[in-house]
Parts: sequence; structure tokens; C-alpha cells
Amino acid sequence: MTSPVVEELAEGERLQKVLARTGYGSRRICEDLIADGRVTVDGEIAVLGRRVDPDSAQIAVDGVPIPTAPGLVHYLLNKPRGVVSTSSDPQGRPTVVDLVPSEPRVFSVGRLDADTEGLLLMTNDGTFAQLLAHPSFGVEKEYLAEVAGGSLSPQSLRALREGVELDDGVTSPAKVIEVTEGMVKLTIHEGRNRQVRRMLAAVGHDVTRLVRVRVGGLSDPSLKPGEHRVLALDEVLALAELATNGPKTTLSRAERRSNLQP
Ligand code: URA
Repeated sequence: MTSPVVEELAEGERLQKVLARTGYGSRRICEDLIADGRVTVDGEIAVLGRRVDPDSAQIAVDGVPIPTAPGLVHYLLNKPRGVVSTSSDPQGRPTVVDLVPSEPRVFSVGRLDADTEGLLLMTNDGTFAQLLAHPSFGVEKEYLAEVAGGSLSPQSLRALREGVELDDGVTSPAKVIEVTEGMVKLTIHEGRNRQVRRMLAAVGHDVTRLVRVRVGGLSDPSLKPGEHRVLALDEVLALAELATNGPKTTLSRAERRSNLQP
């Protein structure tokens, strides 16, 4: 007779056990999800009794990938100005990798310019990073920009809200609010190189300071520049859900109103 350990090694672990271990829900809840046909393994709907190799199986619930492989980490870093988002810099500037634990090795999800501050996701979870980098529905990123040249004209605000012509094409409509004179809150879901700086320059305002203050539903005013924290599973799943299925709600009434202003 084969021992349970040998059987587990030979055939992998039960899917509900792997799913429950992430903190997604109790084994019972995970069994119900499987029985309801909401769980896929490597793109195929799983049945109860399915065993998987947790290191390699791509497990998703309702199409949203779940980070089930052991050892995956997801950090939220508040990147200070002057730090580069790559893992090494030919000019010897400090890198975001210097600001988080060295093990396991992680990389940034997308980039912020060296002179941009604010929230940056870092992970060793390739599936998560890919999902956020090439989302079907762009995850919103919100920036606070201090600009030269004083107040933005109604025409400039309208242009940013409708989309401005850059050398790599017209931008998608942005949500824009002038918070105070020369301070703009701008929300986009694209991730082109130096996009916010180029959008504001296109309407005649150079950016003097740029801070990313929100990624999807994540913001964290308590995180000081240079600090990071581990994301909870529900925060990771909320981002993955946003990138997979888009926001659940349409624009709030306040956002619609601000986008209608001249
Ligand atoms: N837009 C920019 O101009 N820079 C960034 O770092 C991010 C968005």
C-alpha cells in the first residue's frame, strides 16, 4: 500500500488544500468554489479531487490568478526621488531593490522615473507582474503633479481629459483635477514612458515634482519615502481582479462632475 506522503509526492497536493493555504478561504469554501466550476488549473476548469503541483500550477478563481506557489511575495514601496526602478544602474544610483529584503529577489512591476516619487509594487510573482503590466483593463494610477506656469487653463484641462497628442500617439482620457494652483491630480491607466510629464508638457506645463499616490485601490499615506510593506492577500487579489475584470463600478458622480468641468 502506498503511504499518503508518497501518494502526495507522486500526484501533487489536493487543489482545495493549496488554495486554502494562501488564505483564500477555508478548505470547505475552496471545495465549494471547485464544485461550482469557478476554479481553473492551467486554464482548464478543475473538478473536485484534482491534485496539483503548487510550484507550477497556474490556479485561478473566476479568471483571477491566485498566487499559490510557496515563497511568492508582494511589496508596496514608497520610492524616494533619485532612486531608479531597475535592479542595477550604470550610473551607480541607488535602486529600488536596495530598499526591500534581498531574499527572495524581487523586481518592480512597471517603473517610476528616477525623479518620480511614490508607490511602486515589487514582487517575485511573474504572473501577477505580467497581469498588471499588460492588463485587459488598465489599473488606474493616480499622481499628484506640481507644475510650473501656474494654473492650468480650462483648455488644458479639457485637452488632458479628452486625450493629448504625444509623439507615441494620443493618450486615453485622463481624470484631472487642479487641487490648488499649480498642483494637479491626474489619473491614468496607461503606462507609457514618462507619460504624466509628457502629457503636462504637451499642454504647456513642466512638472517640477511628481508623486504616485495610488495604484488601483492601493494608497498608503503612512508609508514614508524609502519604506515598504508586505501586501495582504486580499490586496494582491483586488489588484489582480482589477487587472483581469476591470473596475466593478463606473465613475463616481463626483468624478463625472469634475470631468465635465471646462
Ligand atoms: N509618468 C511619468 O511621467 N513618470 C513616471 O514615473 C510615471 C508616470
